[in-house]
Amino acid sequence: MDIHEVFNDSYERCNQHPHFFDIFYNLFCQKDDRFREMFANVDMQKQISMLKASIAIILLAPVSESARESVRFFGKRHGPQGIGVSPLDYETWLDCLMETVNQCDPSYTSEVDLAWRECFRLGLEIMKKECET
Ligand code: HEM
Repeated sequence: MDIHEVFNDSYERCNQHPHFFDIFYNLFCQKDDRFREMFANVDMQKQISMLKASIAIILLAPVSESARESVRFFGKRHGPQGIGVSPLDYETWLDCLMETVNQCDPSYTSEVDLAWRECFRLGLEIMKKECET
């Protein structure tokens, strides 16, 4: 099966889980006190809606220049002039996302894991680049 199909089917199963994004942010904030502090005064329901929308865009990075432009903008907002996220933070972010998928997708396999990582690869690379500027 094509990796996009593997990813899409898994994302659909994750979205059926009522607490997928809550679990993700809980795991993420447990990884580093900096993350917990960053989100301390943030409306997490609003944040989850924004993350869902930005995931849809980041996934389009390989096929759309306007999506890549939006992802560069997300990267700038998270970079040294903004939130101050480091390239390593993006690794932690993706690892937490995959830990969440492992918990929420009943059909999780290593193939599913690889498909998610590949689908996010270019978008996260673009965001990481903005850490340098
Ligand atoms: C590397 C780990 C990340 C950290 C620590 C982080 C942290 C944050 C924080 C603290 C905010 C501000 C919330 C507020 O003040 O209301 C935010 C906003 C946002 N994040 Fe992230 N984020 C990370 C990764 C990502 C990724 C990978 C995406 C895209 C898939 C993303 C998309 C967004 C969007 C769309 C916003 C709101 C719009 C904006 O403020 O520009 N974030 N993030």
